[in-house]
Amino acid sequence: MTEKKKLIAGNWKMNGSLQANAALLQGLRDGIGQPACNVAVAVPAPYLAQVQALVAGSAIALAAQDVSQHEAGAFTGESSAAMLRDFGTRYVLVGHSERRQYHGESDAVVAAKAKQALAAGITPIVCVGETLEQREAGQTEAVVKRQLAAVIQANGHCISEIVVAYEPVWAIGTGRTATPEQAQAVHAVLRAQLAAATAQAGRIALLYGGSMNAANAAQLLAQPDIDGGLVGGASLKAADFLQIIAAAQSNQA
Ligand code: 13P
Repeated sequence: MTEKKKLIAGNWKMNGSLQANAALLQGLRDGIGQPACNVAVAVPAPYLAQVQALVAGSAIALAAQDVSQHEAGAFTGESSAAMLRDFGTRYVLVGHSERRQYHGESDAVVAAKAKQALAAGITPIVCVGETLEQREAGQTEAVVKRQLAAVIQANGHCISEIVVAYEPVWAIGTGRTATPEQAQAVHAVLRAQLAAATAQAGRIALLYGGSMNAANAAQLLAQPDIDGGLVGGASLKAADFLQIIAAAQSNQA
């Protein structure tokens, strides 16, 4: 349905070491060739420089896991979008559920982070998703629409430059994946919301995340509005991540 390239992004979360990163990226580089889809790895901030060097000349793009909502200044511990850009960062996750949950990030903060990324020429991967409680209360659509609306509102015509990741919180790290139908239903809602905001909605990649693995990726990626994956645990093993990339390529329009 879409001609755009699929995007498979690995989110390493707070995992890795100089040695483990080098081994993982070597494994990816050995197996990746020239993929028909886009590939990125979102690494912990201390490893941006290391991974920038290790992915140079390969098909793997560098991504960060978070960015400050501020441009510069007295914000101890934060990394600005310009700093991420300095290391060749192509994408940055904003509003991951772990940031929303453990660091109290509001929709407004997430929208401001997306804005900083866009201003620095970095593509924000805006994460949205409902908790199990919200799903069971029938609030899934309302929750993801509210989360995305804040980003649309703050970013105007730039909205066509974002990537959206639907990550149901109950599927993250639990081994409990959304069914392809459940994921597609939410993706269709997000696509319609984007279409109301921009004529370019068709080119916005909508990723699914939440226990995506080598075994279930192909079915998820075959859905018309699933344009890629945001992969946690399975991105830490080269063989698994390569299989997900292969699944994306065979689903490439
Ligand atoms: P898992 O793939 O480990 O469930 O993590 C998903 C996720 O949160 C990616 O951002």
